[in-house]
Amino acid sequence: MLIAGNWKMYKGAEEAAAFCRELRDQLEWVDGVDVAVCPPFLALSAAVQALAGTDIAVAAQNVHWENEGAFTGEVSAPMLFELGVYGAIVGHSERRQLFGETDENVGKRAAAGLEAGLSIIACVGETEAEREAGQTEDVLRRQLSVLEQHDQLVIAYEPVWAIGTGKTATPDQAQEAHRFIRSLIDVPILYGGSVKPDNAGELLSQPDVDGALVGGASLEVDSFASICKAAAQ
Ligand code: PGA
Repeated sequence: MLIAGNWKMYKGAEEAAAFCRELRDQLEWVDGVDVAVCPPFLALSAAVQALAGTDIAVAAQNVHWENEGAFTGEVSAPMLFELGVYGAIVGHSERRQLFGETDENVGKRAAAGLEAGLSIIACVGETEAEREAGQTEDVLRRQLSVLEQHDQLVIAYEPVWAIGTGKTATPDQAQEAHRFIRSLIDVPILYGGSVKPDNAGELLSQPDVDGALVGGASLEVDSFASICKAAAQ
């Protein structure tokens, strides 16, 4: 079971360090769940330092496919490694929708990150219009087609209509999509989209749900820690 907190564009270095110190205290006696936080690039180093000596991992929110070069605004896997970062999210729907990322470049980011030794959380998920048009499986198949099985790869199923909307997929909807994804690729599958302390237990008890990628509810230590504790049970 993996619980990852996607902080998006929240928390600078100072706030990240304070959050991580508090998180390590709250999770000190919690076993049976892998936990990761995904701060903005500029707060990664502070998070790595604050969590040194714990099992809580730090991952980035994106990674470029080249090691270096003329790619303004991008960050590479070796740069992340140098900081002690263990992995990266790729293909988040906000990257796809707001920053023009395509299946093709998501596949390149994932492959290069894995090649460099990072763990990769690759996000997939349909929009509301796609779900209503009965295209969920086609969209997932297309988004997954650029990803190859790897023991450091994790998929996050994040239906776009459930992200930041408070509209969580029902446990049955999540389970159905996860089972479909598992029929195409055999790696751990996280659910993401309005996961909160009060719905985490039920979502995480579905047979094909292997953890959660948490956005809004990962920004407060108490709510994130209580989701981690729910996963540990
Ligand atoms: P949310 O975001 O939990 O705020 O819906 C999830 C995500 O975007 O990863």
